[in-house]
Amino acid sequence: MNNSSLSLSISSLYQSQQAGHFIKNETVQGLAEEISGKLAKTDQKIEAKKYDFIEELRSERYLTQVETTLDNLKWAESLVVIGIGGSDLGGRALIEAFYQQDAAMKVLFVGDTTDPVSLKRLLDQINLNKTVFNVVSKSGGTLETLSTYVFFKAQVKKITANWAKHFVFTTSSVSGILKEEAERHSVMVLPVPEGVGGRFSVLTPVGLLPALAIGIDIKKLTSSAYEFSQNSDSRMMAKDLAKAYYELFHQNIKIAVMMTYSVQLQEFARWYRQLFAESLGKNDTGILPIKAWGPADQHSQLQFYNEGTPLQSVLIIKVENRQDNFVLSDIDVPEAQYLEGKDFNQLINLEAEATATSLTNHGRPNALLSISELDEKALGELFMLFELTVVYLADLFEVNGFDQPGVEESKKLVNQALSK
Ligand code: PA5
Repeated sequence: MNNSSLSLSISSLYQSQQAGHFIKNETVQGLAEEISGKLAKTDQKIEAKKYDFIEELRSERYLTQVETTLDNLKWAESLVVIGIGGSDLGGRALIEAFYQQDAAMKVLFVGDTTDPVSLKRLLDQINLNKTVFNVVSKSGGTLETLSTYVFFKAQVKKITANWAKHFVFTTSSVSGILKEEAERHSVMVLPVPEGVGGRFSVLTPVGLLPALAIGIDIKKLTSSAYEFSQNSDSRMMAKDLAKAYYELFHQNIKIAVMMTYSVQLQEFARWYRQLFAESLGKNDTGILPIKAWGPADQHSQLQFYNEGTPLQSVLIIKVENRQDNFVLSDIDVPEAQYLEGKDFNQLINLEAEATATSLTNHGRPNALLSISELDEKALGELFMLFELTVVYLADLFEVNGFDQPGVEESKKLVNQALSK
């Protein structure tokens, strides 16, 4: 039985009566054997506990470590996360989803750029005396993260000899510059599990420390993700998506747009974009993830999605119920009377559905993912849905979903230039 907060409708990806760019019956039949064989192999690996990003969710150890660390930071009013890529995007997704004005701590992000303007803007927002910097880097040596760390270390050293208490490192327990630096100066450290790569690390201390800092129920987050991974109906959602993306690829539809109708999920879409691009884009294959935001991008991208070159499918994400909602009442504009009694939750969801229908009417493949309510359970499940989809897709495309050789060269070039 499936008690997931997510429900996925994929029928508008497939050909029905309408002509259009939907997945054709011939494509489904032609790939059926290959797809079912490959998906079964991925399932075997999940059953055999081969994926650490799933297995590490069972450990309560990280929850306790994060709680203990945060207990030592009660004096701080701001937590500034310094990280990039997988050491940044998951945390941002969590904070954007659940941030409240009255959160115990303000959580800010920096370090995903070497643009000095971002440093100035960050400095303008914080009181250094009451700030903790959470430096997140599994390798410990990432240029953007390291340069931002040494910059803020120098700033903090100007105001206190006890600078080390202003830092927490989330890094490898085995090796790396941050590990060495922590040992030299007794900086608090949280581990990144060795078997979990950056873009799969959101539900480890990487994302859990900032999450707990604003009061997110991290136990609910991790346990819902784990339960989702173990439930065959939930897993079927990931398989359905992966299968459809692979079929679409064989019809030359190689772009997968995620269009989120929720201000709480814009950063989630950025997290998805990295997960899909870095995991699948290799060996001259893969699908290109694009993020779009509804309804704003109805007035920006939808023209192309409906009538432009048929390059993409669109996955629309909507949230059925929101705690914060406003009913339109006392309208005294005659032309706007039709809005009387309607509420904004209703408006945004009607817009999401209308976008899906218009895509279908234009013959454009689309799917609809509905979230009953965006709480920790739902977000844990969302992370797991797309992580699972990516591992199924990696096996369908026969690529290593866990490396990123294509990003190494530019890193080397910069380091060479800096060493001259
Ligand atoms: O997904 C990945 O592995 C990458 O995006 C890394 O997270 C990113 O390069 C940052 O690496 P690190 O955590 O070592 O600083």
